[in-house]
Amino acid sequence: MELTAEEKEILKGSKAPGCQLAMEILVEIGEAYQAPRLIPVESAHIVVSNYKSSCEAGIEILEKFVSLGAKAVVPTTVDPAGIDLDWSESQKIPKDLIEKQRKIGNAFRSLDFIPSWTCLPYFFGQFPRKGDHLGWTESSAVVFANSIVGARTNRETAGMDLAISLTGRTPYHGLHLREKRWGDLLVEVNLQRLTREHLTILGYFTGLQAGTGIPVLIGMEKALRLEDYIGMGAASAASGGVALYHIVGVTPEAPTLKEAFGQNPIPRPILFGPQQLMETKKRMCTGQAGSLDAVMVGCPHYTLAEIRDLARLLKGHKINPKVRFWIYTYKSNILLAERLGYRSIIEEAGAEFIANTCMIVTYAELYDFRRIMTDSGKCAYYAPTEIQAEVIFGSIEECVDAAVKGEWLGLF
Ligand code: F3S
Repeated sequence: MELTAEEKEILKGSKAPGCQLAMEILVEIGEAYQAPRLIPVESAHIVVSNYKSSCEAGIEILEKFVSLGAKAVVPTTVDPAGIDLDWSESQKIPKDLIEKQRKIGNAFRSLDFIPSWTCLPYFFGQFPRKGDHLGWTESSAVVFANSIVGARTNRETAGMDLAISLTGRTPYHGLHLREKRWGDLLVEVNLQRLTREHLTILGYFTGLQAGTGIPVLIGMEKALRLEDYIGMGAASAASGGVALYHIVGVTPEAPTLKEAFGQNPIPRPILFGPQQLMETKKRMCTGQAGSLDAVMVGCPHYTLAEIRDLARLLKGHKINPKVRFWIYTYKSNILLAERLGYRSIIEEAGAEFIANTCMIVTYAELYDFRRIMTDSGKCAYYAPTEIQAEVIFGSIEECVDAAVKGEWLGLF
């Protein structure tokens, strides 16, 4: 790999030893990918942010970089933590796990990472521009940045994200290259109308079809809310490994079908119509009709607009006392929701906010829930193993209805 004079100097130790180690890691990985060189990135986003997924190895590598005097050299946000220490029920979590989370937080502070604790880094002062090169890990953020903004990032891995932040560089390969961003699968959407729920199911369906490929979607050119794209992309990144999709007429680099496929041949379309919609929704539900233990929303983290919509749905209703209703988002969003009056409406209905963590990376399995419901395709995919409960996927309206009744009446 060809390195600049500055990069060669860093390898020789011209900066802090932590920067030198990070550069060594990037060069090794870059050579494995046969990248011709490193390129500068505008920002980094880190997933080694909770003990459940980073384990001891995550803490060890963070503390190693701290001891070697490393610091972020580009704005660096972090994914949700494993625990919301301000939540009254955090004491249910074993003390040693709380201690591990503190260690991660302390290391982040030393490394100059922004304590965003959210999977929505673009709403936390890091909104990228078209063509920006990024070094992001969180799969739902990566697919949003690539597909809706037109920025360029691979789905980086834990550990490598640290090296990117501490050097401000990443190997020039994969989705950083225009010719690696061409579509290879065509999905034709044929639905009368597209609701938020439909989009999430479409994302899940697309992930199953595409795997780690690059799907191109037609039949949905109308601009939707950012939140709809966020939920759709997260579902496709979970059920498959989608890091970039093109919606013809929406994705900045896909104004036409031809441009979406570049020099790849345009394949026969896979249909997504009412039948595929219902079949996929059924597949997303691992549970049967019956009483409900919890509703969990906010995967990816709820935006302020989603909190407002939920407040409107819950206004004047009471959640069945047997059901826990948890909303995950980042702390400053909860503060805004409080100022705007949404928080009191939501809490009067019996729902609760949990900040800076989420149902998948926290320890929700400690509650022994038997059946939970969610409006998130990503949660529907991961919760059966991570929360060890039956999972029902539904629209937010269906989630609220079931939470008020205390039971889910079934799909059909
Ligand atoms: Fe975000 Fe946690 Fe879902 S990190 S995308 S809320 S699994």
